[in-house]
Amino acid sequence: MVTLGINIDHVATIRQARKTVEPDPVAAAVLAELGGADGITVHLREDRRHIQDRDVHLLRQTVRSHLNLEMAPTQEMVAIALGLKPDYVTLVPEKREEVTTEGGIDILANRDRFTAIVNQLQGAAIPVSWFIDAESEQIEAAASTGAKFIELHTGKYADAGDEATQAKELAALEKGTQIAITAGLRVNAGHGLTYWNVYPVACIPGMEELNIGHTIVSRAVLVGMERAVREMKLAIQGRL
Ligand code: PXP
Repeated sequence: MVTLGINIDHVATIRQARKTVEPDPVAAAVLAELGGADGITVHLREDRRHIQDRDVHLLRQTVRSHLNLEMAPTQEMVAIALGLKPDYVTLVPEKREEVTTEGGIDILANRDRFTAIVNQLQGAAIPVSWFIDAESEQIEAAASTGAKFIELHTGKYADAGDEATQAKELAALEKGTQIAITAGLRVNAGHGLTYWNVYPVACIPGMEELNIGHTIVSRAVLVGMERAVREMKLAIQGRL
């Protein structure tokens, strides 16, 4: 059975919209775990646009499932990870101007530097996952760095405009998963998955964990709206 890692970045996005203390992603992680989350994922971005250093340090102390730290493969981030000791690290490409992670990382173009980073992290007992597109060259390159995992980028599948394209992208994810497993890698996937498109990806043989964020935070805002309004009515009446 595929497991579910909850990406809570966008709880922090709402907080940072006001630079206040609510909603606290640390509280969201506790509730996500009560709901059955198998892991908690956060992306500490270079520009700290959502998750803050304070969040990852508190999450390290409070997360009871496993903490997956997404980060760019930079020495600043490696130093943070070595101090924090998350359960694993997912290395992602990062551009300041992007709204979200736009594509998989290019391991082929940076193999030596990236292998050194994997050695630093895994040498400190922090397993590494590479967030890559489902392309055989990138998968083989990921394996050659010694990393334990890959996370296949499901964005092209999620963004497919028609059924034929979606089927083609699903087939690429299935093939990529098999190539990776044959190369000795464990396989996760994520990005752009929703309540409507997740099932076929969850059925891919050998798939271990899906990392899902935006659609879950979006639904949480909506399913919580009625109760939140009722509670504000009570607060206005001094009855909360
Ligand atoms: N996996 C990775 C590597 C990501 O960068 C993200 C987005 O931060 C996700 C999964 C989750 O994507 P989404 O928020 O679209 O579910």
